[in-house]
Amino acid sequence: MCGIVGGISDRNVLPILIEGLKRLEYRGYDSAGVAFRENSKISLIKAKGRVLDLENKLPEKKIKSNQGIAHTRWATHGVPSEKNAHPQISENKIFVVHNGIIENHMNLKEKLQSEGVKFRSDTDTEVVAHLINLHMQKGMDFDSATLKAISQLKGAYALAIIDKDNPDLIIGARNQSPLVIGEGYDENFVASDIMALAPVTNKFKFMEDGQVAFITKEKNHVITSNGNAAKLKTQEIDSNSYTNDLGGFNHFMEKEIFEQPDAISKSIEGRLGKNETQEGIFGSGFEEAVKDVTNIQIVACGTSYHSGRIFEYWSHKFLGINCRVDYGSEYQYQEPIKTKKTLLVTISQSGETADTLSSLKFAKKTGLPVTLTICNVANSSLCRESDYTLLTNAGPEIGVASTKAFVTQLACLNLLLLTLMRVHNQTPNARKKITDALRDLPKHIDKTLKMTDVYKSTAKLLFKRSSALFLGRGLYFPIAREGALKLKEISYIHAEAYPAGELKHGPLALIDRDMPVIALVPDNEHLDKIQSNIQEVAARKGKVVTIGPLGKTKITKDGGHIKIPKTLDLLNPIISVVPMQLISYYTALLKGTDVDKPRNLAKSVTVE
Ligand code: G6P
Repeated sequence: MCGIVGGISDRNVLPILIEGLKRLEYRGYDSAGVAFRENSKISLIKAKGRVLDLENKLPEKKIKSNQGIAHTRWATHGVPSEKNAHPQISENKIFVVHNGIIENHMNLKEKLQSEGVKFRSDTDTEVVAHLINLHMQKGMDFDSATLKAISQLKGAYALAIIDKDNPDLIIGARNQSPLVIGEGYDENFVASDIMALAPVTNKFKFMEDGQVAFITKEKNHVITSNGNAAKLKTQEIDSNSYTNDLGGFNHFMEKEIFEQPDAISKSIEGRLGKNETQEGIFGSGFEEAVKDVTNIQIVACGTSYHSGRIFEYWSHKFLGINCRVDYGSEYQYQEPIKTKKTLLVTISQSGETADTLSSLKFAKKTGLPVTLTICNVANSSLCRESDYTLLTNAGPEIGVASTKAFVTQLACLNLLLLTLMRVHNQTPNARKKITDALRDLPKHIDKTLKMTDVYKSTAKLLFKRSSALFLGRGLYFPIAREGALKLKEISYIHAEAYPAGELKHGPLALIDRDMPVIALVPDNEHLDKIQSNIQEVAARKGKVVTIGPLGKTKITKDGGHIKIPKTLDLLNPIISVVPMQLISYYTALLKGTDVDKPRNLAKSVTVE
């Protein structure tokens, strides 16, 4: 959600903070702010809008600041405005940046107000600054006042705090929202993720829930919620891939779509043998642990949820194992199926999505035995909370609308399918066929990416419309949902996906000549039925664009047909998402929306 960066050093930290914010902007981008010290003075500069708007407000004079904290915001409490941007302050003394939600802020605010504290913002964060200040006014030092304030907070938070009268210290705290410490030579930093600090260090400590860090130039001392020294290892991470270079593309989303063949190759590299998956790719003991599994529960959000829905079909068809897929935000509201033989799979690009993470923690409490995460970010909270991890290896995804994360999740879920097929003694022949097709997938996607002209002309059909319908059946229905999600996320066109057979039960009423329909047409047993559904739309003058591996057939209607390469039916949906990603991208370009940072959204959603 919001992005935090802070630093303390002999060199000027202000440019590091601003560059860090730019790199974190994908987490939130409705306002930004920075507090930086020059000698005994702390300057506070905030701006509504982007980091660039903040940068434009920085003084032109040469600044030399050795300590500072900065923030890019995705509003939860209080509209995006300068007043509500962070750092939030108490009497120009305590400065706080925060990611998360302080759930008991109303109670705390009332108590503080009864002691005469005046509030200036609508944020939940402001209570933290005032609490610390009040404890200090009552005689505590900065460290103890902050620890006491933190003990009063309920909810999710990553915090970075500075005190005007403590030039040598930044305090960081983490509970359910990620925070890392970046270590340098005689300098230390703190940030929401390593992306922000990649230009300055490759040494990181990943804080855990309940921990508080006291960060000076020379060292960082982390304690647990009991006050004991935390045993956190410094990890060296190759931060070279954490680049924010567009590499000649116009947007990160475009770059990431075109990276998909390479990303899938990296997902399967070293994991796929000649005829099947290599043993041990999910970690030692996984195969033994899933031997008796009779039930699979998947939990995920957004695009990641859609990849789970595809695995559901694979599981039923190829494993005969019951699989259920829930949204992270809904999972806990249904009594979970209690069986000792359940495999719980979380799927997430960021590994930090609060709804998915809290579902995993909830599931673990019910005693589910095996937990696996399919995730793009090593060391993320989901990786650390799960028994087993398979990294998607897609490389950093910056565009808010997820693309390469999705196809790599599907490649990894396919590796899971193949592994479970082996563990559950399915025929080697079936495994070999899928293995070969998975290996060929990057090649097919590469070919699909080359047909940009047809996607551009489909975008021309869409960009002036206010609504669009996406249709699919079976395996292709989750892909239709993903297509609709992409279009609405970045072009703001209302888009809905329907199982094609449901059309006649309601949405057909919407069809007229102004309603574009995108239909996924498979080469499988559903072909005849979806052809009939397309006829139903055409008879009502709806414009249908079809996407599928078959050549031009009677399904072609006036919207045109997009022929994609043909592979095994179970993998063809992965190829068919690519045209929809690019159609949405080109539609957004025609509409002039902000492709990489669509309004109101954030890439990593760390609040429930
Ligand atoms: C946000 C992003 C989506 C993403 C979803 C789940 O809503 O904007 O693109 O699919 O979170 O994120 P995750 O990191 O868990 O895959």
